[in-house]
Amino acid sequence: MARCFVTRVLPGDAVERLAAAHDVEVWPEPSAPPRDVLRTAAAGADALLTLLTDTVDADLLDAAPSLRAVANYAVGTDNVDLDAATGRGIPIGYTPDVLTETTADLAWALLMAGARRLGEGERAVRAGQWPAWNPGAFLGIDVHGAMLGVVGWGRIGQAVGRRAAGFGMEVLHTRETPLDELLRRSDFVSLHTPLTEETRGMIGARELGLMQPHAVLVNTARGEIVDTGALVEALTAGRIGGAALDVTDPEPLPADHPLLSAPGVAVVPHIGSASTRTRAAMADLAVDNLLAALAGERMPHVANPLVYDS
Ligand code: DGY
Repeated sequence: MARCFVTRVLPGDAVERLAAAHDVEVWPEPSAPPRDVLRTAAAGADALLTLLTDTVDADLLDAAPSLRAVANYAVGTDNVDLDAATGRGIPIGYTPDVLTETTADLAWALLMAGARRLGEGERAVRAGQWPAWNPGAFLGIDVHGAMLGVVGWGRIGQAVGRRAAGFGMEVLHTRETPLDELLRRSDFVSLHTPLTEETRGMIGARELGLMQPHAVLVNTARGEIVDTGALVEALTAGRIGGAALDVTDPEPLPADHPLLSAPGVAVVPHIGSASTRTRAAMADLAVDNLLAALAGERMPHVANPLVYDS
C-alpha cells in the first residue's frame, strides 16, 4: 500500500477509490495546507494529489525522498515545477479535456456579463439604486454580430470559439492572427493560454492600449497573464470598455483592491471548472493518474511526458 496525501476534500467518490487501494490522508480544511504541513506530509508520502494553490517545486520534491507521483487537480500546471519533477523522475498528472466545455461556458457567461454590464446592474439593484426606466441607463455592447478574439487556440479557446457561431460572431484567434491585430479588431478578447514565462504579463499597458475603447477583456485562464495595474489604469481611463474576470492577480482579490472599484469590472472567484459533474470528473482523472503511477504504469494524463523517456 502506498501512502497518499490529498490536499483537499474532493467532490465525488474518486478519493474513496484511491483509499480502497492505498493508505490515504486527506487535508480536511477548505483552504490549502500551510507550507510546513505540506512539506511534512510530502516527506512521508509516496504520492501527492495537489491543487493549483499548492506549490510543487524543487524544495518540496527534495523534502519527499519516497515520492513517486503527483496528480495535480487542474489542467493548468503553473503551480508545479515540471522540469524539477522530470529531473527527479516524478510524473505529474493533470486533468485536461473534462473541464473544457464547462470552462468555455463560464467564459461565455463572463463575456455576456461584461457586454451587458450584468455585475453593475445587479449591484445597483441590491443597493436599492434601480433607476426609473431610462433609455441611457446601463448601456452595453451587442454580442451578436461582434468580433471575438481568442488568445490561445487550444482546447478551451476552440470551445469558446465554437459557441460564437450561435451569436453570428466572427472569430479571430492567435493561431492565425497576430496578437496585435487581434487586439485591434476584436470587440471581445478572451484569454486561453497557459501561464508560462512567455505569457506572464502578455496583456500589459501596450496591449490594452491596442484594444478598442468599447472592447471587453475576458480572462478565465490565469490572472498573471494580465498586468493588473495596467488593467486598472486602462479601465479607469476608459481605454477599454470592461473586464470580466474569473482569475486575477493576486488571487484571492482583497475586497479593497483597486480592480474592484474600476469601472466595467465583473469578477468571479476562479470558478471556470466549477460544475458538480466536472469537478467530480477532475477528481476521477487525478485518481486514475495516481493509481496508474503507483501500479508502475504510465499516467493516462501526464504533463511531463519526458519523464518516461529516461
Ligand atoms: C485549471 O484546471 O487549471 C483551472 O484553473 C481550475 O479548474
